[in-house]
Amino acid sequence: MNAPRFVPPGHHRTLAAFREQLRALDPDSDVDETLLGAAGPLGAPLDVDGRRIGNRFCVHPMEGWDGTTDGRPTERTLRRWTNFGVSGAKLVWGGEAFAVRPDGRANPNQLCLMPDSDLARDGLRALLSALKDAHVHAGSSLDGLVVGLQLTHSGRWSRPLGEKAPRIAVRHPELDRRAGVSGDHAVLSDDELLALVDDYARAALVAQQAGFDFVDVKCCHGYLLHELLGAHARPGPFGGSFENRTRLFRAIVAAIRARAPGLAIGVRLSVIDVPIHEKDAASGVGQPVATDPRLPPLGFGIDTAGRPALDESLRFLRMLRELGIRLVNLTIGSPYTCPHAQRPAAYPPSDGYLPPEDPLLSVIRHLRVTREVKRAVPELAVVGTGYSYLQEWLPYVAQREVRMGHVDFVGLGRSMLSYPELPRDALAGATLDRRRICRTFSDCTTAPRNGLPSGCYPLDPFYRQGADAAALAQLRKESR
Ligand SMILES: Cc1cc2nc3c(=O)[nH]c(=O)nc-3n(C[C@H](O)[C@H](O)[C@H](O)COP(=O)(O)O)c2cc1C
Ligand code: SF4
Repeated sequence: MNAPRFVPPGHHRTLAAFREQLRALDPDSDVDETLLGAAGPLGAPLDVDGRRIGNRFCVHPMEGWDGTTDGRPTERTLRRWTNFGVSGAKLVWGGEAFAVRPDGRANPNQLCLMPDSDLARDGLRALLSALKDAHVHAGSSLDGLVVGLQLTHSGRWSRPLGEKAPRIAVRHPELDRRAGVSGDHAVLSDDELLALVDDYARAALVAQQAGFDFVDVKCCHGYLLHELLGAHARPGPFGGSFENRTRLFRAIVAAIRARAPGLAIGVRLSVIDVPIHEKDAASGVGQPVATDPRLPPLGFGIDTAGRPALDESLRFLRMLRELGIRLVNLTIGSPYTCPHAQRPAAYPPSDGYLPPEDPLLSVIRHLRVTREVKRAVPELAVVGTGYSYLQEWLPYVAQREVRMGHVDFVGLGRSMLSYPELPRDALAGATLDRRRICRTFSDCTTAPRNGLPSGCYPLDPFYRQGADAAALAQLRKESR
């Protein structure tokens, strides 16, 4: 298998050249030729859940593997949230994944709720106030700023003390192998799942007390609630039928509403999936892992033949609408099984593989599925994902997608690490600073995969000149 040849967007000198590549891959995709800044679609406010969100940029949740081991923020965490505030984006989705209980952390340095809620509340207050102070200091008012906290349980990817400590909802041959599940490893019991309802409600209350506008009940990227949505093979009240697989989610929503009345709820959803990929030993390119077609569907948003499938996701999204949830953030797959689809990149992280398709096609997959959702359930306020790979041309695609009503908010992940002021500059009509545009080198993923804090090591001087840079450079060399 050979790696496909592709031209990264930043290599194009002109918008016209980039546009030609984009439209050759997808005639439905296009760019706006003239950027309108704050006076255009990206600067238009949108009212959601009784709150005005001041513009159409959204900061995606971006964790840093840099909290204390009792779940509180450090100076690095505060710096990241400060940058989120500086960005000028008016929707901040989650800040980062916050584990609702210590054993649900994906790493020992993830923010989390300990039995003593005061610790977490104080930490969250500090993060929120750093973000808001920076927002104001950078010249924006707090009007129209809406900030949520992403609540998570890492499920099969839990590593609260560093070693794998999977908590699984259902058995899965390939995922079990990857997560270190073998033999008669216990699946979380119905009672253990039910006990989580209180953890989520308690975490939501702490978020509300700390001043957050909403919580995201995270259902994406292979973590527990996402796994449960695809638990076709699980017996009992939380597996099998759609009704059963969404039961815990609905119980959590009801409990949050009862415990933290007035707190808005959002959902980040892996809306479709692609087959699990692995690195081809000879070429280094990602290739799908064959699964047994006789097994029941293994996942959510994917059919038995391994094709992305939107039918159940639309059912879930309509259910959200009926539950009075409007804010949704759409993503794809999981960083553990299909990083190329989840966060399109020209260069893979150390545990990844060379892209099996032009990463621009992976971006287009995000744009297409988001358009389909917005068309099918227009009442939802939809955040889209996958924009960072667009580099110089990000605002041109973003403005068009919002102008056409294909998406409500343009979500930015890695760009917020390398160039937090990007939304502010785009809204001001300024030329983007090319030296700071994320080139998808994936060091921000390679670092935490190897026990280092995340950050933009190539482009952010704080990390480039920091103590961990030499270790990261060595890792990069070895992985190539
Ligand atoms: C370092 C890093 C940390 C991330 N942390 C989270 C997280 O805490 N929660 C989450 O839902 N997604 C997380 N993501 C995924 C991003 O939110 C986003 O979906 C992904 O990077 C694709 O968007 P982009 O192309 O703009 O980077 C993370 C991604 C990276 C690279
Ligand atoms: S390390 Fe920096 S340039 Fe590389 S993907 Fe992450 S944010 Fe982008």
